[in-house]
Amino acid sequence: MKVLVVGGGGREHAIVWKLSQSRLVDKIYCAPGNAGISEIAECVSISVNDFDALIDLVKHEWIDITIVGPEEPLANGIVDAFEKEGRKIIGPAKIAAQIESSKVFAKEFMRRHRIPTAEYKVFTSYSHAEEYIRMKGAPIVIKADGLAAGKGVIVADTLDQAFEGLKLIMKERVFGDAGSRVVIEECLIGEEASYMVFTDGETILPLASSQDHKRVFDNDTGPNTGGMGAYSPAPIVTKQRESQILEKIIKPTIYGLKAEKIKYKGVLYAGLMIKDENIYVLEFNCRLGDPETQPVMMRMTNDLLEICLAVSNEKLSTIKPQWQDNASVCVVLASAGYPGSYEKGKLIKGLEEIKKLDNVYVFHAGTAFLGTDYVTNGGRVLGVTALAKEIKSAKELAYKAIEKIHFEGMHYRRDIADKALR
Ligand code: AMP
Ligand code: GLY
Repeated sequence: MKVLVVGGGGREHAIVWKLSQSRLVDKIYCAPGNAGISEIAECVSISVNDFDALIDLVKHEWIDITIVGPEEPLANGIVDAFEKEGRKIIGPAKIAAQIESSKVFAKEFMRRHRIPTAEYKVFTSYSHAEEYIRMKGAPIVIKADGLAAGKGVIVADTLDQAFEGLKLIMKERVFGDAGSRVVIEECLIGEEASYMVFTDGETILPLASSQDHKRVFDNDTGPNTGGMGAYSPAPIVTKQRESQILEKIIKPTIYGLKAEKIKYKGVLYAGLMIKDENIYVLEFNCRLGDPETQPVMMRMTNDLLEICLAVSNEKLSTIKPQWQDNASVCVVLASAGYPGSYEKGKLIKGLEEIKKLDNVYVFHAGTAFLGTDYVTNGGRVLGVTALAKEIKSAKELAYKAIEKIHFEGMHYRRDIADKALR
């Protein structure tokens, strides 16, 4: 079969890498892809939001199925556009993708279905929002309603930070229209985990648990990023907590949407805050996590295309999830300045040497070729991912591999997975 993967980051590289091992796959295309992806798939320079061009590609190349990585095309209705043309595609339709694309939709849905989440209020008026923050005090969390590339959430420790954040979102509109409404919510304390499932709207197929590291610096300090590293499994997600997550969060969400006449197909990702026996939803995403997908794909034994076909054909109940009984750690190497502004085009050295290592795979995020050289082309550049018997040895292996890689301004966290080792 021929498969198209839409996107060009570390998550898409991990998806393409996993698909490349499928006995069902003859050829993989990726739009737009990156330098690493181009070594195992045919990259096509089409934007993830150019649905007409993507559909033309699918028709022209006789592509059987499309898998969407990022949230933006899903929020813009890529699934609706493909299905209108009778093309197979994996992901939720636009109406269902609102679970991620509108924080207000997600919070109101959770309230209606009694899904545990932080207490909140919605504001369209700047002055009312300001008044509410003053009344509630800090710490407090301010969220732009719409998509903001993972940066639209401000966890304010002081009132000054809260007012500053509110101003940026609502007055200066740093995230554009995404900031015309805000959710202001209670700040939850605990440990975060990511829980992702595939679903065909009926059957739920859980993926291995994982944990992201959102903040840019060690010890969870500095601003939020798209994610600076991840590991799988997440020991905080015990068997007992896992069944609580499924019963109290995942099932009520998928079946609650169904009760509201919204069929949810594809991946549902719940970002969770866990404190003792309480588990709250911080956010929903309508797609796989990045970088969580990198360690999760390294541990998956199933054929990923088989899962995707079962989602599409609504036959997911025929698949049994299978995981390697080991652990994986992914450390993200970022450009100087990320998550703020950064330069591109820095020469990346050492990648050829890493290809010789067993159980280490470098997933590319923001990379490109300049002639035959790899150069940086984004904020998050590489995700060095290692597989070993336990988290501790996987972590050691990933950091050992990083010693071989260099680009100007490269920075990364030194404490990825330490939480799992405490
Ligand atoms: P979100 O995009 O909603 O997941 O927010 C991004 C990050 O902000 C989360 O991964 C958390 O680290 C943090 N966050 C979001 N909501 C809250 C909350 N209510 N309390 C504490 N931290 C939060
Ligand atoms: N790593 C968090 C996300 O993918 O949203």
